[in-house]
Amino acid sequence: MSHEHADALVFFGATGDLAHKKIFPALQALARHAHLEIPVVGVAKSGWTLDQLKARARDSVERHGGLDPAAFARLSGRLRYIDGDYSDPATFSRLRRELGDAQHPTHYLAIPPSLFESVVRHLGESGCAKGGRVVIEKPFGRDLATARTLNAVVHQSFSEDNVFRIDHYLGKNTVQNLLFFRFANSFLEPVWNRQYVESVQITMAEDFGVEGRGTFYDETGALRDVVQNHLLQVLTNIAMEPPPGLDAELLRDEKAKVLKGIRPLSPRDVVRGQFRGYRAEPGVRATSPVETFVAVKLEINSWRWKGVPFYIRAGKCLPATVTEVLVKLRQPPAVFSALPPPANYFRFRVTPELMIAVGALVKKAGEATEGQQVELVITEASDPAEMGAYEELLVDALRGNSGRFARRDYVEEAWRIVDPILRGGDRVYEYDPGTWGPLEANALIASDGGWFDPTTRP
Ligand code: BG6
Repeated sequence: MSHEHADALVFFGATGDLAHKKIFPALQALARHAHLEIPVVGVAKSGWTLDQLKARARDSVERHGGLDPAAFARLSGRLRYIDGDYSDPATFSRLRRELGDAQHPTHYLAIPPSLFESVVRHLGESGCAKGGRVVIEKPFGRDLATARTLNAVVHQSFSEDNVFRIDHYLGKNTVQNLLFFRFANSFLEPVWNRQYVESVQITMAEDFGVEGRGTFYDETGALRDVVQNHLLQVLTNIAMEPPPGLDAELLRDEKAKVLKGIRPLSPRDVVRGQFRGYRAEPGVRATSPVETFVAVKLEINSWRWKGVPFYIRAGKCLPATVTEVLVKLRQPPAVFSALPPPANYFRFRVTPELMIAVGALVKKAGEATEGQQVELVITEASDPAEMGAYEELLVDALRGNSGRFARRDYVEEAWRIVDPILRGGDRVYEYDPGTWGPLEANALIASDGGWFDPTTRP
């Protein structure tokens, strides 16, 4: 594994949306924390000048997180720009010249997935890949076959330890806390298995629609956009075995093992929905069959989890913006009758802020032996000093730390699980914006007590 610090950062898609929303703010933060003492080369095809790119960078930080004049000045001083077509070898020759003496450039592809292969090929052919790394945005492929092809193309120019497949959920402190909380405490392990856990639910709800990303979203849908990547990552953090050490590969071995135990999904494990009004969004086909909501049921075939249902649901235009995991424990034997479910559970909120809580029953005051659901919040925090997910992941990529990036086998396993249901063809149920998706999704989980509402407190 190469751990040399990168000596240049190149990012493709410099004038694009992701750069504006996430990358410039992350770069300013890197400059603030003195993690960016290297040239930063933006590449795009917009007919822009360097000054225009700097103006765009300033606008980006002003809108997303705020301008830090000193840090921005440092970033701006390091910024270079190459304007050119990604399919033109001349663009890459110019990039190679711009890189000068740099031996270990890190290339970040913040571009539409359809361009990944061509850019990676050109990086290889122009010599820009030599000694370097590549950071690739999601979605990595569109299905199992295309992910395999992309992996093969990437490996012609970069070895696996120099490939950093981004899933920004892995940069979230709250998602890392799932692992930390599990393995840094002793009280969880004895109950963290099929003997005690009845079911697990993961909900990723967003109270907004596709927000100008209609064209992208209509080629993608909820399964590809957030389930194959973010939510399976959350699931593996909940389900994986403790790794025998902190080494990136040991950790990633355990994650891949979880996925290997999951059968490919079949249409009966899935309910798709589409919010009313989606087809009128700019960039969306008038007869689009794409799901803006999906609920799936799966099982992990392992010693720890066999027989425990795992449910995942994700959707746009739902009542709230929140991602939570609910691990429901089994009911105790009925000494006290009429215990209201869900009684004992662990609840992990991973967006918009961190929250870890335990649910329990206590006796209500009074003569009757009646239970009352209470919740013990173990921690609830949004840490203002927290580095953003993109900043953390970029620091890791520049340093060559790959633990929080998706490995080749992991990505292919994740596609294998969702692959059979990607082609659609099954029914997509309409739902009203501001609701929890189509009612049909309730049937999927009815035998396990229904969906938990992450916006309520007992
Ligand atoms: C992105 C998806 O990967 O994650 C978006 O493309 C989604 O559709 C976003 O809104 C959610 O990320 P976060 O960090 O805001 O929870």
